[in-house]
Amino acid sequence: MNIQDDMEWITCDSPVNIAVIKYWGKRDEKLILPLNSSVSITLNHEELRARTTVAISRNFNEDKMWLNGKEQSMKNARLQSVISQIKRLSRKRKTDCDQLDEKLQWKLHICSENNFPTAAGLASSAAGYACLVYALSKLYGINGDISKIARLGSGSACRSLYGGFVIWNKGESSDGEDSKAEQIAPETHWPELRILILVVSDQTKHTGSTVGMQTTVATSELLQQRLQTVPQKVDKIKQAILNKDFHSFAEITMKDSNQLHAVCLDTYPPVSYLNDTSHHIMQLVHAINEDNTSNMVAYSFDAGPNAFLFMQEKDVPTIINILRYFYPSSDPHFLRGLPVPEKDDYHVDYTTFIELKVVPRALKFVIYTKPGPEPSVKETDCGLLASDGLPKLHQ
Ligand code: DP6
Repeated sequence: MNIQDDMEWITCDSPVNIAVIKYWGKRDEKLILPLNSSVSITLNHEELRARTTVAISRNFNEDKMWLNGKEQSMKNARLQSVISQIKRLSRKRKTDCDQLDEKLQWKLHICSENNFPTAAGLASSAAGYACLVYALSKLYGINGDISKIARLGSGSACRSLYGGFVIWNKGESSDGEDSKAEQIAPETHWPELRILILVVSDQTKHTGSTVGMQTTVATSELLQQRLQTVPQKVDKIKQAILNKDFHSFAEITMKDSNQLHAVCLDTYPPVSYLNDTSHHIMQLVHAINEDNTSNMVAYSFDAGPNAFLFMQEKDVPTIINILRYFYPSSDPHFLRGLPVPEKDDYHVDYTTFIELKVVPRALKFVIYTKPGPEPSVKETDCGLLASDGLPKLHQ
């Protein structure tokens, strides 16, 4: 941490995570306690991450926050709950008391940005809240589990505090003390696993997950059926991950994504996140898998039409060639992220074994990434706030 002219600050990066057993539905709206446990994979920071600088100073007049270059209101119940819980934990530490008490009174500046285009429609609140909580915990010197605090910002954010393969245990207690994330295995456990994010061209404004899941809990009968089967699915996918059994991992992942969207359609009025391209991608994935002796690729969809495809590294060139064939694009930046080894079967006519239409420009672009580590502290020169505590971009 740097101290300059009475200002203390720190900058951190935090990853995005994608659930393979989805969180959908709360038993407590205020404490953000889920109805079921969920399992996720944390993605590599290089391709997708939130970066946050937090600063405190006796010279700041008010708390302020900037997100992707725009000033935001601090009057947000979840944001306030996260900040007050962090300060409460910091007070409990009771070391260096006088100085700490004074610093806890200092006003706070928060500046956050993502390294992926906002237009991509990828959920960023998980990475954003995980990053804020991680950065504040470093600033106020808090150790131990902070996933319970990140959960108060956005449920799925608690999973972004760990790298690799993560479970958010739903917990039983009414105060939420046991509703926290835990690592199943680090990202190095399954080094062959890869992820392609298919950013679907789409103009529709989708119902946010907070509201979507509220309506599901209030109206869906199918949700009760889902909740009974989630514990077995969680056990099975944990085993598949620990055994690096891609075939089972893929099947459980796809079935859980399908069940989430079935429950959304069973919501009244229905909540619909998938579009024609999403359904086309699902058919394509099943056609590829049927052409193989075991599953080669799996899809998963969150509260929007974008697809997250999981596969093993050896199959990436084949899958990319198939995607380029069915979703042709003239964009030279169509494929972003990690470098992809080329394979020379680019001109194979896939329609001979996959009876699907070619849909030009159905995808905006594709991001190639892999599982990655937990949040980290960055060098001072990565900071987003200048020495006067205002965003560097605005100067
Ligand atoms: C479909 O964590 O965004 O991505 O807790 O209300 O902020 P709130 O919801 P949020 O929901 C994520 C839903 C999901 C599935 C998942 O990530 O598990």
